[in-house]
Amino acid sequence: MTARLLIVEDNAEFVANLTEILEDLGHEVRSAETCAKALKVGLDWVEVALVDLRLPDGDGTRLAEQLKEQNPDCEVVLLTGHASVESAAAAVRAGVWDYLIKPCATPDLLATLSKALRHVQAQIEKRELSRRAQRAEKLAAVGTLTAGLSHEIRNPLNAAALQLTVLERRLRKLDPAIQQPLIDPLTLVRDEIRRLEHILQDFLQFARPAPVTMRRIALDELLTKVVALMRSDAERRQIVLDTHWLTQPEVSGDADQLRQVFMNLTLNALDAAGPGGHVRVSCLRDSEGVHVYVDDSGPGVEPTQRDRLFEPFFTTKAQGSGLGLPISNTIVSQHGGRIEISRGPLGGARFAVSLPR
Ligand SMILES: Nc1ncnc2c1ncn2[C@@H]1O[C@H](COP(=O)(O)OP(=O)(O)OP(=O)(O)O)[C@@H](O)[C@H]1O
Ligand SMILES: [Mg+2]
Repeated sequence: MTARLLIVEDNAEFVANLTEILEDLGHEVRSAETCAKALKVGLDWVEVALVDLRLPDGDGTRLAEQLKEQNPDCEVVLLTGHASVESAAAAVRAGVWDYLIKPCATPDLLATLSKALRHVQAQIEKRELSRRAQRAEKLAAVGTLTAGLSHEIRNPLNAAALQLTVLERRLRKLDPAIQQPLIDPLTLVRDEIRRLEHILQDFLQFARPAPVTMRRIALDELLTKVVALMRSDAERRQIVLDTHWLTQPEVSGDADQLRQVFMNLTLNALDAAGPGGHVRVSCLRDSEGVHVYVDDSGPGVEPTQRDRLFEPFFTTKAQGSGLGLPISNTIVSQHGGRIEISRGPLGGARFAVSLPR
């Protein structure tokens, strides 16, 4: 379990020693010797902060309050001398995780930090689980409705398509001179029916996700095929589409369904990048699993909007169904993975698909 730790303390030697120990344990450590510098570290980043009560430019308990205000997910451990134990104890009653009396033994310090850290990570996990449960519930409700409706629409649509074929065959038997002006509108109707069928297929797939058939897949080969399919579309729109994979990652999964996920994400990225833009599909493997990144140079997605994108039917496109991401998300979840949105290295959005090994 690695963590992001902030040490706020003006004793440089203590900070250096502790940093070394914590980094050896695999944690990321940042330090600050004053309250002012601590506030500049980027409080969103902090998971657990170790704060000295007496700092050159202020009171550690005040800093602890500010930390909790700005980043409610983090926990603070105070370091205090005997003289100020009372105010440290008061701070703990007010919401600080714990305090330690200086000089404190390293094992005690590490034990307290790791307890705080386990608490922070459990909280984050709990929130994520409830967020997912909410999303799943909503999806299930919309899914049932969609499935019913799609079936009802499909039957008359099939009948219409069939009658259209009959009509076309009869038209083709007519004199060519009167045939053509009749064939043109007929073709248009046929194309529109095809489009509807396509949308219905999306709806049904969203409502009744197909079961996944797990096989070993060479992900780089699958991605190469996806990118090849997108290539002409990208060229037509003058978008640079490049790929980057260092390893030959293997996952177990359903190739057809994963292909659809990466097509959806790449199509979205091309739409976001727009003419003259840049899209990159890359892939890497680490101890947790395999990560595929689809980055674009588009406008990106505001952090507050990121959850909305996975809501069924949310779209900002005239021709969009708003089902690409919900379908992709369901597929990736069925694989035990997740999709995350962040700001990407090309300036726009990054959609990261993580699949377990
Ligand atoms: N790479 C991206 N950058 C910025 N916004 C994005 C990106 N990808 C998706 N979005 C936003 O999320 C919305 C939903 O995407 P989703 O793929 O679910 O549906 P869609 O692309 O609108 O329609 P469909 O995929 O069904 O054709 C999009 O309309 C767009 O506003
Ligand atoms: Mg889409």
